[in-house]
Amino acid sequence: MPLRFPGSGKVARDPVHHPLFARYYARFSVSAETRMGVGKVRDRLLAGLSGRVIEIGAGNGLNFAHYPSAVSEVVAIEPERLLRQLAVDAALRCEVPVDVVPGAAEALPVKSEAFDAVVISLVLCSVRDVPRALGEVRRVLRPGGVVRFFEHGKGGGRVMHLTQRTLDRTLWPYLSGGCHLAREPVAALRDAGFELGPYRQLLIPEKGPKMPSSYCVLGTAWRPGTDER
Ligand SMILES: C[S@@+](CC[C@H](N)C(=O)[O-])C[C@H]1O[C@@H](n2cnc3c(N)ncnc32)[C@H](O)[C@@H]1O
Repeated sequence: MPLRFPGSGKVARDPVHHPLFARYYARFSVSAETRMGVGKVRDRLLAGLSGRVIEIGAGNGLNFAHYPSAVSEVVAIEPERLLRQLAVDAALRCEVPVDVVPGAAEALPVKSEAFDAVVISLVLCSVRDVPRALGEVRRVLRPGGVVRFFEHGKGGGRVMHLTQRTLDRTLWPYLSGGCHLAREPVAALRDAGFELGPYRQLLIPEKGPKMPSSYCVLGTAWRPGTDER
């Protein structure tokens, strides 16, 4: 249901409103699961998780079917209306309990230190304010809790960096729901105070021509056990 401002009859705008991109992503992402090997990456992203998990920017819910049964609950935050509806449908079909909730990474609508794990996949490229979003990740994660990430970002050689930066300054964010190609998710996690666990670079698709969005990283980070802030 769209939110209405009391008394005005006006509908509140969603914090993220990319209806054309949402339609495109809903189709493209499903075919990429097998065609580009993204489904297998989701298995690795979520393997071994347990307890209470919050997934940020859950999109159309393609991670949901990959959660292990040791996960007791997933709170899936998705700001875009169409994708959120598709995520609700996906939640009904999966085995682990998933609660799909509107909201944005920069102001998560949940209590502090309430989760054992945070999942971010293909999201840091699109959030408006990465340090603020990662500050929220840190807030909602219990001390010692884990971040699982699968993100694309800066990669390749000089020509590819230049291409990524040029696209970021011109058409790409407008065409791709606010996505940026040259961000550096591992550095952003480190700067936000997370301890980096194992992570690896990978290409999506693994074989064939490299695209500006092909340079991905899959890994784990931890919120330090004692919060020094
Ligand atoms: C490329 S899609 C990835 C969706 C999903 N995580 C996946 O792995 O398929 C990017 C997602 O980030 C969401 N998003 C964009 N800005 C956001 C924000 N500020 N907070 C939370 N999610 C955001 C979009 O609505 C979209 O669902």
